[in-house]
Amino acid sequence: MKTSITTAVAIISLTIVGVVFAQGGMGMGMGPQGGMGMMSGSSVRHHFVMQNGIDPEYAGATNPLSGTAESVAHGRQIYEQNCATCHGPQGFGDGPAGKSLQPPPANLVNLSRMPMVSDGYLYWTVAEGGVPVGSSMPPFKDVLKSDDIWAVILYLQTL
Ligand code: HEC
Repeated sequence: MKTSITTAVAIISLTIVGVVFAQGGMGMGMGPQGGMGMMSGSSVRHHFVMQNGIDPEYAGATNPLSGTAESVAHGRQIYEQNCATCHGPQGFGDGPAGKSLQPPPANLVNLSRMPMVSDGYLYWTVAEGGVPVGSSMPPFKDVLKSDDIWAVILYLQTL
């Protein structure tokens, strides 16, 4: 009888220790949300790409649209409807819906000057959103048509 009580006590304390550890572990392992809280929105993705490269499904993609004034204007419309709420009207990352996001929405101005930021990079980012990098940017591959994604990319390249 005594032994079984001791055993029960031991099991209960082990369980408590286990739960405390599990919670501590989860708190520390929140990834991009907690661990990288100090990073800007874009550095989360740039860091990810430096480590993992761009998803090979997208890496070599090139824009099938030519940058006519018409396609850029269409891209701007797509941007205003789907992106400005987080990335801001001019792309500075200051939209109202982005204020509480961690990591915050990226500043998109001058983005295409970065060598890493190819057409494939941008298509991957818009199509898959924040899923691969742990941000709250939504994936647009089932929301926008491929041509709409390419048009918004043309527009981003003018910012
Ligand atoms: C709910 C808010 C939200 C919406 C809506 C949103 N984004 Fe984002 N976006 C983010 C956040 C947060 C990041 C930073 C983390 C990341 O890269 O996923 C980001 C990052 C990006 C980046 C990467 C920038 C860089 O420095 O590499 C691009 C490009 C981008 N967004 C384009 C778009 C476009 C185009 C749309 C609309 C079709 C859009 N986003 C809609 C939140 C959003």
